[in-house]
Amino acid sequence: MSVGIRRLEPGDDRDRFCSGHPDLDRFFHRFADQNQFRHHVGVTYIAVEDDAILGFVTVSPSEIEIDALPADRRRRLPRYPLPTLRLARLAVAQSAQGRGIGQTLLRFALTLARRMADEIGCVGVVVDAKPDAQTFYLRYGFESVSAVEGVLLDRPEPTPMFLPLSAIPCPDNR
Ligand SMILES: CC(C)(COP(=O)(O)OP(=O)(O)OC[C@H]1O[C@@H](n2cnc3c(N)ncnc32)[C@H](O)[C@@H]1OP(=O)(O)O)[C@@H](O)C(=O)NCCC(=O)NCCS
Repeated sequence: MSVGIRRLEPGDDRDRFCSGHPDLDRFFHRFADQNQFRHHVGVTYIAVEDDAILGFVTVSPSEIEIDALPADRRRRLPRYPLPTLRLARLAVAQSAQGRGIGQTLLRFALTLARRMADEIGCVGVVVDAKPDAQTFYLRYGFESVSAVEGVLLDRPEPTPMFLPLSAIPCPDNR
């Protein structure tokens, strides 16, 4: 059976998911549902195969200060905070890593950024990359930027990274 991506639903069994990263697993087990259904601070999409959850990506709207962008990306943009899609969390089950599921979830999130740009505005995607995931994001064109917003308590500290909308393909080549 092929892997599909869909929104997390209240009845989904998240307990068995294990990426090997305790903070990502704790978020998925305990907070993904209330953040989505009660607080509306983010939406989680899951990769599913035969009813098993193989991975998830959580996204939320965010902003980036223009001064956080690399100098060549600032040209012609207004000086107020710029709307972005935040890739808040991305994880693949240990048993399913290396099968292209992380890439599929990331590409799905990039299509959401395109839709956000069309419907409400979005200049790109931001992520706080964990040290061992930085090269994963570099492969897709993300670049390091100054701190985006907020204080992160994660240790070791993640690296803020940004992918401009111009680097995300249009579905219909507009
Ligand atoms: C990082 C992660 C999401 C990648 O997911 P995955 O399903 O294993 O990756 P994929 O199979 O889609 O890999 C796609 C490509 O990226 C490469 N890749 C995978 N993980 C990588 C990493 N950590 N660093 C660099 N490249 C990586 C793969 O080799 C593959 O390359 P290829 O297309 O040339 O074969 C997954 O390993 C994971 O959940 N890790 C733990 C949690 C984590 O670090 N999340 C990111 C938080 S910011």
